[in-house]
Amino acid sequence: MNLPEHVIIKEVGPRDGLQNEPEKIPTDHKIEWINRLSETGLKYIEITSFVHPKWIPQLADALDVAKKINKKEGVTYAALVPNMKGLERALEADIDEVSVFMSASETHNKKNINKTIEETYPVLEEVVKEAKKHNKSVRGYVSTVFGCPYEGDIQTQQVLDVSRKLFDMGIDELSLGDTIGVANPKQVEAVLLQIREEFPDQSIALHFHDTRGTALANCLAAMQLGFNTFDAALGGLGGCPYAKGASGNVATDDLLYMLDGMGIQTGIDFDQLLSAAGYIQSQIQKPLPSHQMQIVHHQKGSGKK
Ligand code: HMG
Ligand code: MG
Repeated sequence: MNLPEHVIIKEVGPRDGLQNEPEKIPTDHKIEWINRLSETGLKYIEITSFVHPKWIPQLADALDVAKKINKKEGVTYAALVPNMKGLERALEADIDEVSVFMSASETHNKKNINKTIEETYPVLEEVVKEAKKHNKSVRGYVSTVFGCPYEGDIQTQQVLDVSRKLFDMGIDELSLGDTIGVANPKQVEAVLLQIREEFPDQSIALHFHDTRGTALANCLAAMQLGFNTFDAALGGLGGCPYAKGASGNVATDDLLYMLDGMGIQTGIDFDQLLSAAGYIQSQIQKPLPSHQMQIVHHQKGSGKK
């Protein structure tokens, strides 16, 4: 098997995970969770989202969270920013990386950020320009790359068009989202072969949701092509409130288990990661869906370590 020696896992649980949790987590507990994540060896944590609190009430405390966490040297703390209003707050919080986002499909874009794709470009362009002026790195997300809950199949040409626009604005990294977890490994390969014709592999991250259980297989397919950056949410928390039925991202703990077993370096400590998962699980008061956390759950139930 042709596989990378090193994989970068970007933890998005505090944002993508918590944005979809019906249970309201107190701000101090989010902060405590992020502080624990910082001690696991993760080098990148997407901690919150400076979107409209009416749209995502779960992350209405974004400024407080971003200001109060203990920032660990060497860890990048990122947040979603939809527009200049969001950027103002992100800069006030001195976030390290700004993540702009839009969709490859018109309908999801409209439902998620209330603009057409064409209307979105100038908004994001201004955000990227201003963020760069403040020496922030910028990540661009494209959602619905592998399928849209409203429009079904998506032509890769649409993904390429949106991605090109984002790179032209000056983003440093592009994260390709399987928002509703419909992708399969063969499709991942086909899309990535087209992506790599235009953009360098090192500037691409994959963001797989695990709605249909294909996320780990999709990560493996991308790795076999040499891609090595993956977004993941601890315990499999997450989803997109504007994509009905979307469930969590590939679970960080399941991905790490697989990578550790294959001898691929990540710099993340598995036991510390599980302990951080246990912490957030106790806050949301229900078992996390990842396989690793199910094992922990069963072992506890049967009295084994
Ligand atoms: P809008 O209503 O069109 O905004 O929402 P607007 O520009 O017309 O402004 C209306 C009011 O909102 C104004 O206030 C603004 O000041 C205020 P008023 O003058 O009426 O008092 N406002 C804001 N307030 C706080 N923070 C802001 C902000 N912007 C405007 N940033 C908007 C447009 C983009 C704000 C809204 O649609 C929104 O917040 N959407 C976010 C939806 C979201 O967060 N979705 C989930 C994240 S994306 C995702 O999960 C996918 C991903 O994981 C990848 C994948 O899986 O594919 C990334
Ligand atoms: Mg997502």
